[in-house]
Amino acid sequence: MPPVNAFLKKEDLEKDEKSYPLDVYFCRDCSMVQLLDIVSPEILFKEYHYVTSANLPMIKHFSEMAEEIIHKFGFNNKSLIMDIGSNDGTLLKSFLDVGYSNVLGVEPATNIAKMANEKGIRTLNDFFNIETSEKIKKEYGVADVITATNVFGHVDDLNGFVKGIDILLSERGVFVIEVPHLIDLIRNLEFDTIYHEHLSYFSLTSLLTLFRRNGMSVIDVDKKNVHGGSLRVFVQKGPRKEPEKVNNFLRSERDFGVNKLETYEKFSNGVVLLRENLVKFLRDIKERGYRIVGYGASAKGNVLLNYCNIRTDIIEYISDTTPLKQGLYTPGMHIPVVDMDYFHRDNPDYALLLAWNYADAIIEKEKEFIERGGKFILPIPSPKVV
Ligand code: TMP
Repeated sequence: MPPVNAFLKKEDLEKDEKSYPLDVYFCRDCSMVQLLDIVSPEILFKEYHYVTSANLPMIKHFSEMAEEIIHKFGFNNKSLIMDIGSNDGTLLKSFLDVGYSNVLGVEPATNIAKMANEKGIRTLNDFFNIETSEKIKKEYGVADVITATNVFGHVDDLNGFVKGIDILLSERGVFVIEVPHLIDLIRNLEFDTIYHEHLSYFSLTSLLTLFRRNGMSVIDVDKKNVHGGSLRVFVQKGPRKEPEKVNNFLRSERDFGVNKLETYEKFSNGVVLLRENLVKFLRDIKERGYRIVGYGASAKGNVLLNYCNIRTDIIEYISDTTPLKQGLYTPGMHIPVVDMDYFHRDNPDYALLLAWNYADAIIEKEKEFIERGGKFILPIPSPKVV
């Protein structure tokens, strides 16, 4: 699998493209699910094409998240609020908007950190680890709130990362993480969310072990309907007794079979079958003379296209709202990425929803396409027209 955010310029299409193994491993001891082949973060994250603010549903999601944190913990508006993997500062902007002015982002992608700073959201261009956390503490003091959304899974040295959080967090402070929930990944066959940037696939079960090992405690957990089903986990310093809500959650994961290898073997068989079904489904449509394009040049879309070997003979192009991706070609399958106007003017018969995590918002937004006879295809958990 090539790195799925490595979109290509036209002049690079003929050059050799790097690809790396993508195998998932399961730990029988702590139920951790992770990749063991690690692609250097310098390769994956220094130049990045994903911008949070290009995804309207995420802007709303983050603004609600900021509100919940303020409401639940009521820190004063001088508190230092930090976001790790802060991208273009979308979450921190939600804190700024309600008067919390002492915000600080940490973002490894140079191009994205620059965008955030230009928008007035203070952002350090760095990878987060123990060393950076000590530097930050010296310069900015401790933080009352640290968030890390869809970044925890990107981290190779998780123990070092958590130790860094422990160093930076104030005694009463809260660390809030959001990660896609492994149970949803398995249940809905969300195999396309597995890619090199995502090193770990978390259950509360494996997270609890990680935090306990590093002297921190899970104090609350919620399910969120983003990125195919996510966990929002609240963590504080020191050993604490888990509340009943957390224990119930752990019990439900055990009942699902999160600690059993068979659960993952069944998933793996399901993915192979899904590939066969999806390719047949799309080929049938083509054979009936209809045109298919892709909608949303998401990272997961590139996993799906590469794994199923879907090229421009099936998908003519992919439309995407991210200006950074438009005009480029998808890694591996080399499908051109176009802007939304192109899609609306072209009016194809079918659009494969590669950003299926935003299906509701997209279907709502594309009423005109549907009224004109256009149809969306949802690829997972089994291909269907919606
Ligand atoms: P994500 O699933 O990693 O958030 O990426 C979603 C991609 O889909 C991102 O490149 C932006 C794109 N997108 C659209 O093109 N249209 C939309 O309405 C939304 C929500 C996302």
